[in-house]
Amino acid sequence: MSNEQELDKLAKQIVVCTKCELQRSRRKAVPGEGPTQAEIMFIGEGPGFHENEQGRPFVGAAGKFLDQLLEQAGVTRADVWITNVVKCRPPGNRDPLPEEIEICTSNYLQRQIEMVNPSIIVTLGRFSMGLYFKAAKITQIHGQMRKVGERYVIAMYHPAAALHQMSLKPAIMADFAKLPELLKQARAGLGKTAEKEQKKEEDSPKQMSLF
Ligand code: URA
Repeated sequence: MSNEQELDKLAKQIVVCTKCELQRSRRKAVPGEGPTQAEIMFIGEGPGFHENEQGRPFVGAAGKFLDQLLEQAGVTRADVWITNVVKCRPPGNRDPLPEEIEICTSNYLQRQIEMVNPSIIVTLGRFSMGLYFKAAKITQIHGQMRKVGERYVIAMYHPAAALHQMSLKPAIMADFAKLPELLKQARAGLGKTAEKEQKKEEDSPKQMSLF
């Protein structure tokens, strides 16, 4: 099965998923969307009111703000994969519970990440940040990029945070303004890793011949 087919299969499973309580109150589950070969994946928290109505990620007010932030950073939304930690709206937009996060990420998000295989992941908010930086505080690491395994992960505030707390808006805007530079650094770092891998491959026959 191709990665695209596997992503489609996952999406079909997500829309009828009954693995946790969130299925009871959802209208539409929101699998996520984007090109299969996307270099960058954005991971939010969970669908809100409008996403639950439409079955698509980031289509409400936070999504409009995200679109604006992406545009300012020169990133085209159509080029990136966008999804959430949990695929169904927590009732009343409450925080997703640890067991809901565990069920949804182990069954769906992890597989989506494997299939899209993005080299850069941008986490939006503390729940997706928590998947990569367990003990971190978003107030301390927002706007920063770290290498996690083969990928670069950038922790951003959730765009909705700026809508609820206006004082955060300048920080979010400044973090996204740094995005082009962070992407450049990540690509350069990935290039170096690829060079190292190639060198290892080229060197290994020589080392073998020493014995
Ligand atoms: N907030 C999120 O975290 N995800 C969405 O899809 C919409 C709002």
